[in-house]
Amino acid sequence: MAEIVFGFGTSHSPLLSTPPDKWHLRVEADKKNPSLEYRGKSYVYDQLVELRKDEKLDHQSSLPIRTERHTACQHSIEQLGTKLEQMDPDILIIIGNDQREVFNENNTPAISMLYGDTVDHMSISPERIAKMPPGIGIAAQGTSAAEDTTYPIDSEFSSHVISSLMAENFDIHAMKSLPDGPKGPRGMSHAYGFIYRRLMQMPIPAIHVCLNTFYPPNQPSAARCVALGEAIGRAVAAYPKDYRVAVCGSGGLTHFVIDEEFDKGVIEGLINLDMDILSALPEDYLRSGTSEIKNWITTAAILKGSGLKINMQDYIPCYRSEAGTGNAMGFMTWE
Ligand SMILES: [Fe+2]
Repeated sequence: MAEIVFGFGTSHSPLLSTPPDKWHLRVEADKKNPSLEYRGKSYVYDQLVELRKDEKLDHQSSLPIRTERHTACQHSIEQLGTKLEQMDPDILIIIGNDQREVFNENNTPAISMLYGDTVDHMSISPERIAKMPPGIGIAAQGTSAAEDTTYPIDSEFSSHVISSLMAENFDIHAMKSLPDGPKGPRGMSHAYGFIYRRLMQMPIPAIHVCLNTFYPPNQPSAARCVALGEAIGRAVAAYPKDYRVAVCGSGGLTHFVIDEEFDKGVIEGLINLDMDILSALPEDYLRSGTSEIKNWITTAAILKGSGLKINMQDYIPCYRSEAGTGNAMGFMTWE
């Protein structure tokens, strides 16, 4: 029977692939953002600067601190890549999300899975990078492919998981291949691209589970993600081949406004695989980029029955502005 032998979570932020002296390029976008989500409310940049003025975030976002934390993140990413290579699983289940790279407003499934034999990881041309917003083009190399590459999906295993979930009353949007994105064919979303580009040394047959964490009105709730993860765990345990399975949650933690206190609670739930904590996380906090924590919640629920325990746990809040914008990075393994 298939067995879960390794779990990990990783942030996949553009900042991880952006030199710290260029992080300010995204601050201009922060200043124009009409809805920076923080603790269940929407703010504009200047309101957050005022609200958080006592936290000394100008120091936290200074270049020396940015550089220190960026270096620490690179170390964590290297460690994750090494551990994944050492574990050498037969299958990697990746829980991720889409950010209007594959799905558009007319087609945004709450939970979708691939069941074809392959998935494309595409490169981005220098011309296209040049047209991207400041700070995004520079980071694109961290999630896009160096050159167009096709990776294996375990169609049989994925179909088994989809059928098992359907039998447990989860209605899964099934895709033989990914649709063309709103801006044309793009291959996998960056939540997956980061894993392939930065962590996977050798191609590992994968199962992609995609959650609509971001976009109203059909985001699965935290409690639903717990139920989904538990059901995926049961589907894996029921699979007849003796596969060694790894599971990965991609994204998070709080962003684009960092909230260390909220992350603390999330991390407590993740470390202890405590589904009571994770399923009770307030929905109005899990908005915007922070919603990607749901990828970790689902992962934790899959791992719950595996007997694996937390091993590595790195938390690195990467502030890019005095308003508290940036991305709190999480890197964890369960072994
Ligand atoms: Fe993301």
